[in-house]
Amino acid sequence: MNILVIGQGGREHAIAWKLSQSKKASKIFVSPGNGGTELESDCTNVEIDTNDFSSIKNFVEHNAIEVVIVGPEDPLVNGIKDYLSESNVLVFGPDKKGARLEGSKIFSKKFLFENNIPTGDASFFSSSEDAIKYLKNSIFPIVLKADGLAAGKGVLVAKKFDEAKNWVNEVMNNLKFGDAGSNIVIEECLFGTELSYMGILTPDSFIPFETSLDYKPLLDGNKGPNTGGMGCIAPSPLINESLKKNIFEMVVKPTINGLRNIGVNYFGFMYFGLMIKNDIPKVLEFNCRLGDPETQCLMMQMKSDLLDIILQALERGEPKITWNKGANLGVVIASAGYPNNYQRNKLIKLSRFDGVKLFHAGTKIVEGKLITNGGRVFSLNASSKTIKSCKEAVYTNIKNVYFEDMIFRKDIGEVYES
Ligand code: AMP
Ligand code: GLY
Repeated sequence: MNILVIGQGGREHAIAWKLSQSKKASKIFVSPGNGGTELESDCTNVEIDTNDFSSIKNFVEHNAIEVVIVGPEDPLVNGIKDYLSESNVLVFGPDKKGARLEGSKIFSKKFLFENNIPTGDASFFSSSEDAIKYLKNSIFPIVLKADGLAAGKGVLVAKKFDEAKNWVNEVMNNLKFGDAGSNIVIEECLFGTELSYMGILTPDSFIPFETSLDYKPLLDGNKGPNTGGMGCIAPSPLINESLKKNIFEMVVKPTINGLRNIGVNYFGFMYFGLMIKNDIPKVLEFNCRLGDPETQCLMMQMKSDLLDIILQALERGEPKITWNKGANLGVVIASAGYPNNYQRNKLIKLSRFDGVKLFHAGTKIVEGKLITNGGRVFSLNASSKTIKSCKEAVYTNIKNVYFEDMIFRKDIGEVYES
């Protein structure tokens, strides 16, 4: 079976790597992919942008692609599934209607309220004057969110009024995120420990993956600005039977029913971003895709054949996923400046690794040389019995990766509460 994976991050490297272990997989193409997918012997990069739907359609039709697996959110929100509906290909990911759960924070908040799914209180604004007036009478910290997609940068947890007011001006008046910030959500700040709860959603069921904990802030001690994620552990130390039951009853079940009520036939990955306090989940966000760097941990932990699981789900089956025992931990290695303007085109030197897997994100190969090409450059992952032994393996091997001014957190594996 020929497969096309769309995307270029560490998540897509991990998905392609995992698919390459499937007996059912013949050719695996990644568009556009990265240096890591180019180096995987079973994968081939195809130089097509993730939002160039007509070139993707053309490639699918001329290369006997049977399944397209979409990694990032923007092609899904922009309707890649709808676009490919007339091609003879299975697309794993929701259609445009389903992807609104991630594509519009206002839509997803309303969905949460309408379906009585626990989440923070929120108000919606389309005028900066009204937003600022509201902030004057608010309790801080408070959370501000651009309605549309903003490449993972559209959320601010504001500690003070001035910070919030500046953000409103930048986003709503100066259109820092373009139209994505014409409307905003101002939301109650939730406290606890975050949990990434991912899996496969079909119209009838949710097939959960192992849980994970993402380290969003840039700096050790969970300090500094939020990023796409600087590291991850799986499973999350928070998880227990009572929490699993609460997540199913309070979040998953009403989501499945709510989507059915609005006529969405969802087939794809689903990522519930949750805040947990005393085993009670509250939803921070829905993502219609897998997380990055969580996927790198999860693909290493998954024992089952990912392709098989996806094919069964696409036929409305309820595949049982088996997981390796023990834990996985990944540390993201990023370019200086990330998550703001970061350096590129730095020469990368890799030495031999022992007992770890290096997933690439922002890398590319130019004239035979591996160079940096993004904010997050690698995720170095280890599977072992415990988080502690994973941590030792990763931090011992990290010296085998070098590029100028590389940055990484030294405390992945610690658990923090906000
Ligand atoms: P989102 O894209 O909505 O998940 O927001 C990105 C990150 O912002 C989350 O993973 C949290 O770390 C933080 N965040 C979002 N909403 C809230 C909230 N209501 N309270 C506290 N933190 C939040
Ligand atoms: N690591 C968080 C995300 O992928 O949204």
